[in-house]
Amino acid sequence: MTVTTTESVSKSGGHKSKWDIPRTERDDPFQFGQRYLEDEAAVWDFNAWDHVEWDEEQEILAQEKLAKQKENPVNDFDKKLYMSNPSRYWDLFYRSNKSNFFKDRKWLQLEFPSIYAKATAKDSGPKTILEVGCGAGNTMFPILAANKNAELKIVGADFSHRAVELVRESPEFDPAHIAADVWDLADESGRLPAGLEEHSVDFVILIFVFSALAPEQWDTAIRNIDRLLKPGGEVLFRDYGRYDMAQLRFKGGRLLQDSFYVRGDGTRVYFFTEDELRKIFDNYFVVDKMGTDRRLLVNRKRKLKMYRIWLQARFIKRASLDDGAGPSTGKTE
Ligand SMILES: C[S@@+](CC[C@H](N)C(=O)[O-])C[C@H]1O[C@@H](n2cnc3c(N)ncnc32)[C@H](O)[C@@H]1O
Repeated sequence: MTVTTTESVSKSGGHKSKWDIPRTERDDPFQFGQRYLEDEAAVWDFNAWDHVEWDEEQEILAQEKLAKQKENPVNDFDKKLYMSNPSRYWDLFYRSNKSNFFKDRKWLQLEFPSIYAKATAKDSGPKTILEVGCGAGNTMFPILAANKNAELKIVGADFSHRAVELVRESPEFDPAHIAADVWDLADESGRLPAGLEEHSVDFVILIFVFSALAPEQWDTAIRNIDRLLKPGGEVLFRDYGRYDMAQLRFKGGRLLQDSFYVRGDGTRVYFFTEDELRKIFDNYFVVDKMGTDRRLLVNRKRKLKMYRIWLQARFIKRASLDDGAGPSTGKTE
């Protein structure tokens, strides 16, 4: 295996239009981790290594695993079941896992500093953060804990009733700053999360939620986000990347369609490439930056190597749709 010390973070310009964000307002590239494996013999010395690139052999092995999964996809009966009512499986998930499954997203401050510079800082003025797929609140509550802005509003939306109940029942729930509502990111009825108007949101946070959508729902989801955000508003994104360990270890009977799987508990998960993500957001957003977080996790006791791949991005809503780079979907606004 080749290990490189080169940063795998790619700075993306996206469309260069007059609406691009001035360089001075941009954050630095994503931090990710900073521990580089330069000597293969040292691999068991630490629990995790960052920016670990794959060699050709590893890539071929991954492709072979995917080809094998394709030989045995989910059968049609089960596929209908998992595609027809996805929130039911997340409800069941939260009934058995309560609020302690996901770790608090403490890295937010490092990776998405704009939230803290523009929304939670003292005297930031009225600011609204919407977290879609808020689950039990592992992202919302750490943001609230850091808040110094009396006029900050954080809205959590999740299509699982049980998740929303967990947020509301949390001892950290502070109604002065927080609200939670049942809402589907891929909602087609035009309803917005309770208390939110069109173009009223400064930040939309999407952490491991877009991967739960079926590819045919992506467009509706993007339009919903676009409707909610103010011009110049930000989408802060982190999710699964193609060839992540979680994808490669799926056995037969789990593949719903290309790169889209159903887990043993009935919840669905997609694994993205940077190119796909860019295309999904491109019509409405400037890709301010996008990076692939490649981490090698090591179980030193059992001598196991686990290759994790996550994508992270910051998208900025175009300030106007009349800049010639607007959506080609016929949307008028
Ligand atoms: C992996 S969890 C992530 C939870 C949270 N963002 C965090 O970082 O801890 C994914 C969450 O997205 C929610 N979800 C999945 N699809 C959704 C949809 N279409 N609309 C709203 N929420 C959705 C699930 O119910 C679940 O709570």
